[in-house]
Amino acid sequence: MERKVSVIGAGFVGTMTAQRIVEKNLADVALIDIVEGLPQGKALDIMQSAPIEGFVGRITGSNDFADTAHSDIVVFTAGFPRTPGMRRDELALKNGGIVASVVKEIARHAPDCIIIMVTNPLDVMTNLAWRTSGFPAHRVMGMGGILDTARYRAFLAEELNVPPSDIEAIVLGSHGDTMVPADIRTTVGGVPVGQRIERVRLNAIIERTKQGGAEIVGLLKSGSAWHAPSSSVVAMVEAILADSKRLLPVSAHLTGQYGIEDIYIGVPVKLGAAGVEEIQEITLSGEELDGLRRSAEAVRGTLKKIKL
Ligand code: NAI
Ligand code: 2OP
Repeated sequence: MERKVSVIGAGFVGTMTAQRIVEKNLADVALIDIVEGLPQGKALDIMQSAPIEGFVGRITGSNDFADTAHSDIVVFTAGFPRTPGMRRDELALKNGGIVASVVKEIARHAPDCIIIMVTNPLDVMTNLAWRTSGFPAHRVMGMGGILDTARYRAFLAEELNVPPSDIEAIVLGSHGDTMVPADIRTTVGGVPVGQRIERVRLNAIIERTKQGGAEIVGLLKSGSAWHAPSSSVVAMVEAILADSKRLLPVSAHLTGQYGIEDIYIGVPVKLGAAGVEEIQEITLSGEELDGLRRSAEAVRGTLKKIKL
């Protein structure tokens, strides 16, 4: 195929992302991990499903970051999930080391690519990837808001017994406890959500959305979600490769928008061939705006703590 996407990390999220990309015939995929044999074995297994699934792209596995060469997009999923009791800054320190060293390799071998960060803590790692890569900010972004919004829409759809496609919503802010579901933008078939669900119930759904990742971790006991996360990443890959200019919430670099300076945080953007082509400044309530700013300061605080 003409397009190439490299996926760093052949764990749960990375492998499912790679599988979705080839199955949708979006691009050839290079799946890369430090564990010898792991990406090679997984790539071979996925490749052998091609005759049945009917996809035509190539998927290869490797332990060599040089194989990211000529990538249009590099999806970064390498790292560790948070374990019970681990503080956010401890995880940031642990994954920060991986991000800093591997992003240098990506920038060397695929200097023209767009980086989509997935590793947690998401917004902190996206800031770090941007600084380390030396790339213009529009070519580095993080996946968090699409997943958080998908969870919110799924819960609302379940509550109201309507298709998720009838729910319009957007979740802003950091991919973490400080995320901000923008209430005044949430509609059900065009009707404001407040007219369809009682406040108390809506607050419970918002709280469940904020704890969406933790709820799954609690059920799985080890590891975290990967099905909806990989769908969310692929929505971004698709928008970029098709230059579709879709409006999606992603972690993007703000330079004064929403009164926030020089930090990556989840906001609605226009995604196209150049990456983040425009940051959308939507109207928020005063409380939502405060929440977004607090969320940005929390990310800045973690960045300072780990001195990265
Ligand atoms: P996983 O543990 O299944 O996979 C991580 C992979 O990274 C492993 O195969 C490991 O060998 C590899 N790895 C570690 N160091 C590496 C290096 N230096 N170079 C290349 N590969 C390396 O974890 P999973 O479930 O795939 O999650 C990956 C990350 O994504 C975690 O940090 C998790 O918290 C995050 N995540 C973020 C989401 C989001 O919404 N942004 C959603 C879901 C997960
Ligand atoms: C999630 O939200 C752990 O960030 C991951 O599922």
